This record gives sequence, structure tokens and C-alpha cells, in this order.
Amino acid sequence: MAAIFIGNSKAYLSAEQTLALIEEVTTRGITKPFVFAPASEVLEQCVPHVQGTNIALALQNIAAPGISLEKIAACGVTIAIVGHSDRRAEGLSDEEIAAYMVAVLDNGLTPVLCVGESKEVREKNLAIDFVLSQTREDLKKVETDQYNRAILAYEPIWAISQDGKGIAATPDDVIPVLTALKKEYPHTKILYGGSVTPENISSFLEAGFDGVLVGKASTVIESLEGMLAKIS
Ligand code: PGA
Repeated sequence: MAAIFIGNSKAYLSAEQTLALIEEVTTRGITKPFVFAPASEVLEQCVPHVQGTNIALALQNIAAPGISLEKIAACGVTIAIVGHSDRRAEGLSDEEIAAYMVAVLDNGLTPVLCVGESKEVREKNLAIDFVLSQTREDLKKVETDQYNRAILAYEPIWAISQDGKGIAATPDDVIPVLTALKKEYPHTKILYGGSVTPENISSFLEAGFDGVLVGKASTVIESLEGMLAKIS
């Protein structure tokens, strides 16, 4: 099973830069399938540009103005990121996330639920407990037989980069959390996110993650190409 690669351009790229990146993927002959989540206001504009390519589109932010899950599902968008730490930092609650999970599944999309602990929680050695309870809260409205329709992205908040500057977790940091999640959700794909680069991507795939969720490094064609080349 090929590893899943999701690029999340967050607010890094304008509409023009997003379309240029998509075009560059084709120009360079990159054919490995991957998912890309452009800024929500650019999403619909991207739809015709990815048709017939190896790129599938994802929704970054369900709560963005003008977003309707029904409409974007009808456009062919198949994935929605839910509960990203940026959204949680803006005040998105677990209760709202739990409702979004159901809405996304009901519209036939695949939710990618982002979970992860803060630096403080990690330093208190509570990462596993925190991530398991956050995940349970966010999945509490999803029927257990639907768990295989969702993807989990474990993104320790302290490892997420600021404009590409960040310190990724090491496999030793994250394997215990991955193991705990896998035990509880054996049929759910689990991704790693946080400062993934062409240099460290293989270490997370070798550690047992089913793929990666990548922010800044996915917005630069050279590093995007470098990471996709390491995915089998
Ligand atoms: P990063 O972002 O790869 O730039 O650390 C990851 C994310 O926010 O999902």
C-alpha cells in the first residue's frame, strides 16, 4: 500500500502561486499520486487545474467563509482536514470537531483528523494520554464501523514549523503515541505531521506511519518533489 502524502499549503501561497505549483508538478513530470490542500478560498479555482493529474484536492478549513461541504464534494474534492492545530488555536472546540467529523463523512468525504499534544503536555510525559483522549472526544459521534473511513494525523504541536523553521519530532518521540493509536484504531490510517522534509520523511514512514501531512515543505516545488520521490 503506497504511503499517503498530503500537502497543506496553509496560508503560505496566493492563488497565483498555488496554480503555479500545480502546473510545475506536471511540467516536471511528477506522477506520484498525492493530496494537496490549498487555501480554502482558492480550492474551487484549483479544481479544473488538477483534472487528469496525479493531484487530489483537500479542504483545509471547513469553517472558512463560503465553504459548503456539499458543494466541494460535488466539485470532486474528496478529503477534508479537520481539527488542525491552527484551527484549535483559534478556538475550535472538540465538540465542534466531533460534529465536523460526522458532516464530512455524511458528505462522502474522507476526514483527516489532526491530533497532537502541546510542549507542556509532552514535558509532563502525558502525550499518549492526551492524544488518546483528544482522539476519542473528536470521534465520539462517529460510528466505530466508520473509523476505517477516516484518517488520523498525529501532529505534535511543538513539532509544527513556523514558516519552515521547526524541529521535527524524532521517531523515538512519536512511536509510543503511534503504537497507542494503532492499538485503539487498528483499521485507521495514521499519518505523521510536523516539520517533515525530504531529509526526514523516510524516518517517519519507516517508523510505521501510513503517510505524512506536510505544511511548508509541500509549498516549495524542490522539496515537494524530493519528498514524493521518497514515497513508495
Ligand atoms: P509543517 O506544518 O510541515 O510546516 O510543520 C505541518 C502542519 O501544520 O500540518
